[in-house]
Amino acid sequence: MTVRINPSILSADFANLQAELESVASADLIHVDIMDNHFVPNLTFGLPVVQRLQEVTPKPLDIHLMIDDPDRWAPGYAEAGAYSVTFHAEAARDAVALARRLREIGARAGIALKPGTEVEPYLELLHEFDQVLVMTVEPGFGGQSFMESTMPKLVRLREQTTRLNLDVWLQVDGGITEKTIVTAAEAGADTFVAGSSVFATGDPSAAISTLRAAAEAHTH
Ligand code: DX5
Ligand code: ZN
Repeated sequence: MTVRINPSILSADFANLQAELESVASADLIHVDIMDNHFVPNLTFGLPVVQRLQEVTPKPLDIHLMIDDPDRWAPGYAEAGAYSVTFHAEAARDAVALARRLREIGARAGIALKPGTEVEPYLELLHEFDQVLVMTVEPGFGGQSFMESTMPKLVRLREQTTRLNLDVWLQVDGGITEKTIVTAAEAGADTFVAGSSVFATGDPSAAISTLRAAAEAHTH
């Protein structure tokens, strides 16, 4: 199984984003957290910044929308050329219609589940998505502790993708470190978001290698 390490620029220096992006050249995708201060109690940036990031990095962007009304706003990110657009199940009015729209525009479509959101309603719909993001912290802030209680959801998702032979990426986001990445990989994740454990270290490139090696040793 291919392991992907996606650094989250939420923990990067917002005054030097271009240089920060260059420091994670060995990443697979760049994770971009969009927060609207409504769906989560924090505010980051929106479409104009994403459009500009897209221009200065050759890396595919992995957009994580922590916003209300993604049905209205998510397609704009796909139209801007984002490789992957993930919206929250709790916020979407019609998750399947939105995923179909994102795919039609040419992006990969992802659905994100907060720690308290059950996975069962989505298990029969997995073919509609390219990625499921299992949040391993409450969304809103970097630097929180990994919630192991979310792992059974990954196990269920991996059982289902295997059973149906679906190529749906299973992503984890929140509290991913050299240690917790092992737990998430063993549970079935293949795509790992890491903010503080990449950018808050002196050497983002070495941090990515360490995380990648740990995950690769523990994916099935
Ligand atoms: C949190 C964001 C994450 C955040 C993760 O709501 O979705 O992407 O950047 O940060 P760490 O890796 O520090 O937990
Ligand atoms: Zn995120």
